[in-house]
Amino acid sequence: MPNTSTAVTPHVAKHTSRPKIEFQRLGKRFHRKSEPVPVTVMEGLDLTIYEGEFVCVVGPSGCGKSTLLNMSAGLMHPSAGKVLYDGAPVAEPNTKVGYITQKDNLMPWRTVTANIALPLQIRGMDKKAIGKRVGEMIELVGLTGFEKAYPGELSGGMRKRVTLARTLAYKPEVIFADEPFGALDAQLRGVMQQELLRIWAASKNTVVFITHDISEAVALGDRVVVLSARPSRVKVEVPIDLPRPRDLSKLRFDPRFGELNEYLWSVLSEDLNEGDEV
Ligand SMILES: Nc1ncnc2c1ncn2[C@@H]1O[C@H](COP(=O)(O)OP(=O)(O)OP(=O)(O)O)[C@@H](O)[C@H]1O
Ligand SMILES: [Mg+2]
Repeated sequence: MPNTSTAVTPHVAKHTSRPKIEFQRLGKRFHRKSEPVPVTVMEGLDLTIYEGEFVCVVGPSGCGKSTLLNMSAGLMHPSAGKVLYDGAPVAEPNTKVGYITQKDNLMPWRTVTANIALPLQIRGMDKKAIGKRVGEMIELVGLTGFEKAYPGELSGGMRKRVTLARTLAYKPEVIFADEPFGALDAQLRGVMQQELLRIWAASKNTVVFITHDISEAVALGDRVVVLSARPSRVKVEVPIDLPRPRDLSKLRFDPRFGELNEYLWSVLSEDLNEGDEV
């Protein structure tokens, strides 16, 4: 058994691309009606995400992962520090990013086609171009034949594909994904992960991917960022030196994959209390 704590060096490799998103001494406090004292979710969080990178973020439940994405997308404001996008502070909802939120938020009264078309309609794209783009997206995520179906008629995995297609349709520079495959069964999850890697390799956008699953983070990421328990900050950043393209069905037999998983588990488990979820 290799000594994983020394086999894995927790430092960040030199990046050749430019910073896309920067968190500088980021802090977030929430005031709850029922509690007189505000809860400090995040304090002094520093992290840079580089253009074209696939960064996975893991951390104990409730440490502020979704909050981090909400601030990155401009849907929430920091209580301290800064979030920079292309070097400028994020002051309002950022329309250059695509956000796959933790909750499935498809519109039940719209068909698959109409759901995917929505962000394009909001952007004022002409009808013919929308039809073409939506058709391409449906093919890309393997939903041909379900164009006229409603979300209620689809499986959980198919709904996730619609969400992915809707996000990719307007070609976002950055994709924020908050546990996008969490509810899927293992087999479908594998299919969707491989699909996402294929799409990312072709589109070359930046991805920030939140997950509870360490092996998913290692399988997909260029880098895994571990957040500490509240008030969260970056505990460790681990570059994932597995070659690409990655065949996810074979990855679990790779000893390096095992080492990285084991190391990340050891780091993450330090912040978990008994009975905690990751
Ligand atoms: N709008 C809000 N008002 C008050 N408290 C909030 C709000 N949003 C989040 N919080 C609190 O901030 C903390 C972090 O929440 P967040 O949803 O970011 O955690 P998370 O890391 O995404 O958790 P999980 O892994 O369970 O999804 C929690 O304690 C939560 O109760
Ligand atoms: Mg969350």
